Amino acid sequence: MCKSIEMTRLIRCVMGWMVMGALMLTLSSRVVAQEIKPDLSGLGRAARPNELAAWNADVRADFQGLPPGQGSVKEGELLWEQKCARCHGSFGESHSHTNPLLGGITPDDVKKGRVAAQAPDSKVPVSTLMKVATVSTLWDFVRRAMPWDAPKSLSTNEVYASLAYLFYLADLVEADFVLSDKTLPKIQNLLPNRFGMTLDHGLGSVNGKPDVNQPACMKDCVVGEPKVKVMPTRMKQIHGNLEDQMRDFGAFRGVTLETKAAKP
Ligand code: HEC
Repeated sequence: MCKSIEMTRLIRCVMGWMVMGALMLTLSSRVVAQEIKPDLSGLGRAARPNELAAWNADVRADFQGLPPGQGSVKEGELLWEQKCARCHGSFGESHSHTNPLLGGITPDDVKKGRVAAQAPDSKVPVSTLMKVATVSTLWDFVRRAMPWDAPKSLSTNEVYASLAYLFYLADLVEADFVLSDKTLPKIQNLLPNRFGMTLDHGLGSVNGKPDVNQPACMKDCVVGEPKVKVMPTRMKQIHGNLEDQMRDFGAFRGVTLETKAAKP
């Protein structure tokens, strides 16, 4: 250590030790930083089958994922009055909460699988059965989202029963019909707009094609973190300035969008 009694040499010596100390501190903290690299090997666990099942709950257009069960029109009528009618009306006709579920379809639509009232110059207000093209979507939606104020509260059989009644109200089935995992696929062939699915229009276009129609990348896709782009202004403006269409509820109550189309 510093043994000199001469002041300047002593100060120099002390300062030397201080620099040395600081250097060692830096080095050692570097070593420590390297050493405390977190070991994550003990963390987490494989997802349990019931957890996977809770996530993997979708019912696809080819009916993959449709659980076994059944519900009759009769059971559905009671359930409808108890759990659906106050928002959708006793006949699925109400537009108090959302568009009517029923209305605007004809026997000819059911025969052709294409709803005539969907024509661009039509004055008929759109109903759910006028537009939906896949019956699995109805089943999936009711199970995961309805009743609106108590989603996922319906049993599997109640989902079947409520839809059995909806199809009865739509004149697609008779009063003694029982909807089940076996009979639901048959309703697909009766859906008034079953041939109405279109991918011809999107929010925007990519290389001249609608952006809903791009092939999904399944391998050798983005390496590293993908860059999320903000939606280009010209696409945001596609339905006009939202501020002029002020909504009373929801997250975006009429965002102001630039009126001049900007480059993405
Ligand atoms: C508290 C009010 C409320 C109740 C009760 C309710 N719904 Fe709904 N329902 C809504 C609202 C609001 C929407 C629109 C939700 C949305 O678009 O996110 C909707 C949407 C739907 C749709 C899809 C409509 C479309 O065109 O997208 C179906 C089908 C439906 N409900 C069926 C049912 C059934 C069956 C029941 C009873 C088991 C039920 N609902 C109970 C409020 C309700």
